[in-house]
Amino acid sequence: MKIVVIGGTGLIGSKLVTGLGEHGHEAVAAAPNTGVNTLTGEGVADVLAGASAVVDVSNSPSFEDAAVMEFFTASTGNLLAAEAAAGVTHHVALSVVGTERLPESGYFRAKIAQENLIEKSPIPYSIVHATQFFEFVRRIADDATDGDTVRMPPVAFQPIAGDDVARAVAKVVVGAPLNGRVEIAGPERSRMDEFFRDTLASWNDPREVVSDLHARYFGAELTELSLVPVGDAVLGQIRYGDWAGQAAAGK
Ligand SMILES: NC(=O)c1ccc[n+]([C@@H]2O[C@H](COP(=O)([O-])OP(=O)(O)OC[C@H]3O[C@@H](n4cnc5c(N)ncnc54)[C@H](OP(=O)(O)O)[C@@H]3O)[C@@H](O)[C@H]2O)c1
Repeated sequence: MKIVVIGGTGLIGSKLVTGLGEHGHEAVAAAPNTGVNTLTGEGVADVLAGASAVVDVSNSPSFEDAAVMEFFTASTGNLLAAEAAAGVTHHVALSVVGTERLPESGYFRAKIAQENLIEKSPIPYSIVHATQFFEFVRRIADDATDGDTVRMPPVAFQPIAGDDVARAVAKVVVGAPLNGRVEIAGPERSRMDEFFRDTLASWNDPREVVSDLHARYFGAELTELSLVPVGDAVLGQIRYGDWAGQAAAGK
């Protein structure tokens, strides 16, 4: 089955292309540096020819409010129109657990807009909601940094390994469209402030992690369950400590 992976050169996309290929699928990586730009429409019709399914794991190069909104609405609109013309029968997109609960954040408003376009389109779809990737932990800490201080809210946190995300998304794309969402999260739930205090200590990072109920996550204040699945969820197998140990050993 031909599956086009939009953002197929990125963190999750490249793992997905490899995994789908190992299972005998024709997985095609589509991104600006392979000649496919969903924002401008360049190369989109050509790459979709003969495809049964499309997985969109692209991301906006800029997280600035207007830029990210423009990215997810224009690229999703272009993609869905091209998929309808090409006869694609399954659109899969990767989004974030809690997206619908975080409209205060410009990034999450853009993900809500992306999901709305997908839900309204005639193409059968599946939306995978994942929690924060282990690989994104450093960026979260940097975004929450003010001088030598990292402000983190004392709320539930359940990050997941990129490898577990890619495996779950691959399973969804080869299955029947859900016309709904599935949520995936890591195997361990902890407190966000404590997680970052321990993690920065393990990096020998001199920044101090301060617990702050009003600390913002990419612009949004969080409540206890903002970032974790509240209903059924598929859990990954890789634990953060094991992943971090392997990453430190360069494996
Ligand atoms: N980070 C998290 O913790 C998290 C959690 C849950 C869900 N998600 C979602 O997961 C998705 C993938 O994230 P990621 O970290 O794997 O992304 P990433 O590593 O930043 O990769 C983004 C991909 O999008 C491509 N891209 C950028 N502009 C494009 C365009 N105009 N047309 C086509 N492709 C374009 C990039 O191509 P180039 O390399 O050529 O620029 C790259 O292949 C995002 O939608 C995000 O919302 C993230």
